[in-house]
Amino acid sequence: MSPGNDIIGTDSSDIALREHRARFGARFGDPDGVRVFFAPGRVNLMGAHLDYNGGPVMPMAIDRGTFVALRPRADATLTLASMLDPFEYEGPIDALPTEALGRWVDYPIGVIRALARRAPFEFGADVLFGGNLPIGAGLSSSASICVGTAFSLDAVFGRSDAPRDLIEAALWSEREFVGVKCGIMDPFAVTLARPGHLLWIDCGDESVEHIPIDANEVTIAVADTGVRRELAQGAFNERVAQCALAFEALVGHAGGATSLAEVSADVVERHAHELEPPVLRRAQHVVAEVARTHAAKAALLAGDLAGFGSEMTAAHKSLRDLFEVSIPELDVLVEAAVEWDGVFGTRLTGAGFGGCIVVVMRTSSREGFREHLEAAYRGRFDRSPDVEFFGVGAGPREVLVGPLTS
Ligand code: GLA
Repeated sequence: MSPGNDIIGTDSSDIALREHRARFGARFGDPDGVRVFFAPGRVNLMGAHLDYNGGPVMPMAIDRGTFVALRPRADATLTLASMLDPFEYEGPIDALPTEALGRWVDYPIGVIRALARRAPFEFGADVLFGGNLPIGAGLSSSASICVGTAFSLDAVFGRSDAPRDLIEAALWSEREFVGVKCGIMDPFAVTLARPGHLLWIDCGDESVEHIPIDANEVTIAVADTGVRRELAQGAFNERVAQCALAFEALVGHAGGATSLAEVSADVVERHAHELEPPVLRRAQHVVAEVARTHAAKAALLAGDLAGFGSEMTAAHKSLRDLFEVSIPELDVLVEAAVEWDGVFGTRLTGAGFGGCIVVVMRTSSREGFREHLEAAYRGRFDRSPDVEFFGVGAGPREVLVGPLTS
């Protein structure tokens, strides 16, 4: 690898990046002049379903994510291809579809349309996406592809978009073009991550803090149920709408509150009879999760990993019973994980309805953990979960540039 290049994570990521560059060559002719970028995925450790309610969240970027190989063209044609899906898009960059196609290309197309409103693109590009992040598993593959697209176009075309512009473009793509009414957490976490740190994002005023985490002492494990729900997008939007209903009903009693996260538990309980039962449960989750997330931050800052983890595990119970976004597969994995000596805490990550649990554990307790989860899961569901250990990741960056020396 040529000097000055950033090598992500392990040897296997390095190999994967080299392969990605070679695959760009196989798809688009020789790989001369291509630049390769990486944008991470994320796990959210605390603040479940708080971002669109104006509350605090604690996500962390992981050392897995999306690879974007990009080479500008002399004409205005844009080609989007992926190693993970045979569907491709080709068309003029200044006349992109105005309606989503219902395909993976919607994410980058939405981003490019959003960026073009700031400054139009004069030239097209050949782009090949790939990566090592499970898709649709709650690890923010969609924000990873959106931010990866925005970051690499900004770098290659020298556009000087600020990080917040990249975040805005990613959000516009997901919310307005694809149609998932997600909060701000995922593109913030993916764009602003720093190595060795969790993020604390106040989704009310959009301020961000970086909180150090000892990446030697602590390991992040992720266990994937393998369950992907076709209807998850609709169920997610339904939760967003229920939280909005709760806020509408309670705001008049909660002097000055600007979001559901600012309503007190006391107000929710006093006016419980004014809410439909499912709407009440969503509100109960939100107000308690705000308190848990503040407690988790205080524990982490005090070096109390057990205290931090117990808030995570309590959050899972609330996601299961009050927010109703868990499934038995996730619950079985959480129950098995908490039994393991050295596990600080565990909960579902992402929106729920399938996907993964995230586990914060002592690095020295890793041995045997994967087998333990596999045995518990197989005992119930007759198939194995995919259990992996992740490192604390950094934000988007260029990873391979120019010719390779080996
Ligand atoms: C999804 C959304 C995020 C957030 C989480 C739940 O990942 O994209 O904005 O709402 O669910 O915490």
